[in-house]
Amino acid sequence: MSNASSSAAAGGAMDRAAAERGLWSSRLAFILAATGSAVGLGNIWKFPYITGENGGGAFVLVYLLCIAAVGVPIMMAEVLIGRRGGHSPINSMRAITSHEGLKPAWRWVAAIGVLAGFLILSFYSVIGGWAISYVGTAATGQLAGQSAESIGAIFTGLLGDPWKLLMWHTLFMALVMVVVARGVRSGLERAVSILMPALFVLLLIVVGYAMTTGHFGQAVSFLFQPDFSKLTTSGVLVALGHAFFTLSLGMGVMMAYGSYLPKNISIAKTSVAVSVMDTLVALLAGLAIFPIVFANGLEPGAGPGLIFQTLPLAFGQMPMGSLFGTLFFVLLIFAAWTSGISLLEPLVEWLEEQKGMNRTLSTLGAGIACWLLGIASILSLNLWSDVAPLGMFAMFEGKTIFDLLDFLTANILLPLGGLLVAVFVGWFLSRKVLEEELSMSPAVFTAWYRVLRYFTPIAVAIVFVYNLV
Ligand code: TRP
Repeated sequence: MSNASSSAAAGGAMDRAAAERGLWSSRLAFILAATGSAVGLGNIWKFPYITGENGGGAFVLVYLLCIAAVGVPIMMAEVLIGRRGGHSPINSMRAITSHEGLKPAWRWVAAIGVLAGFLILSFYSVIGGWAISYVGTAATGQLAGQSAESIGAIFTGLLGDPWKLLMWHTLFMALVMVVVARGVRSGLERAVSILMPALFVLLLIVVGYAMTTGHFGQAVSFLFQPDFSKLTTSGVLVALGHAFFTLSLGMGVMMAYGSYLPKNISIAKTSVAVSVMDTLVALLAGLAIFPIVFANGLEPGAGPGLIFQTLPLAFGQMPMGSLFGTLFFVLLIFAAWTSGISLLEPLVEWLEEQKGMNRTLSTLGAGIACWLLGIASILSLNLWSDVAPLGMFAMFEGKTIFDLLDFLTANILLPLGGLLVAVFVGWFLSRKVLEEELSMSPAVFTAWYRVLRYFTPIAVAIVFVYNLV
């Protein structure tokens, strides 16, 4: 079906289209795939470092509020659009708008998402490359018994070596492209069902270690005792943006995965399940990392290198640390891999459906373009570390290409995409469609509907205006 708009005259046509593409084998399969997308570097790499940079407790509280009051309702809205439309995100939007008699321009919402995914993957792959590099470092016993200084030096050494970074970035992109080129679904379900629990257990082991040897109490109060004097308005924007980033919202991933969801499965329950698991992994990562930070007198606000300067320290000291460390970074690569796949998938689907390219060719085109952009992020860590392309604007002062891509996607494009999804579903789709798709008790439905119509758009808009003006 290359042109969805003409054939979407009836809901039945959309159902048939969805059935032809095959559906998830079960509710669990959807949860696994969505969790595979959601749980990634955002939980283990990004959440701890932005929490450290933004002063801890109060930031964590705002982040949790954003997950519950903004993230979950929007995730439900995205899955709903996907299941109703039954196509790639852009064509699902196209099918729904034509079927409901709405302006076709709404499909640009999904187009913003495809762009955001492309931009995110370009630097996500570079960080995925860091994780690959640390597998070797841990496996060869280089972490054993090292001091905080020499662990820090290993990290600085990696960032200062563009060729090494390029090699690992290339490997990560290749891993993502191989899976996307072959069609995502078969292996993904099985991989996620084994590797996610394994990652969870390994995180628990590190938390256990941190509990007995690190400054656990100090870490718990840092994470859970809100000190609002440390919270800035930009911190609120970062928390909001991260809620979108960590749940893979605002760019159509959940639309794409929702398009494979069988009709009889509850969108609300699955969305809550995915969000809870995602949040648990992030909090566990925080509980693993901050005791080590405080026990070693490290800086919580150290920035993007935080986990690479703390966890290796723990692996260097704990019994069987080389083994656990190697395993941990391997699992981190898998978590990043399943997320990376979901970042590339919407663009590739769109190239296929819209430009009539075959799967291999679309994957190659999109992947190579993304890989090229990633090189700019690599250089901004070393040779171009002083280059701030938009530095003449106060809000971008001192931001490297890498920082800019992160800021533009997580703090602007994703919330904007999410805001538009909320407005589209809350104000433009007919209530009948929503009730059919969600089939929840009337009280829960009304609560969700109000939050999506009023709270979500207003909250996102306020945070935006505050920060951009
Ligand atoms: N959620 C992933 C993480 O936390 C990243 C990610 C994957 C993502 N797909 C996405 C973020 C789509 C935004 C949109 O690592």
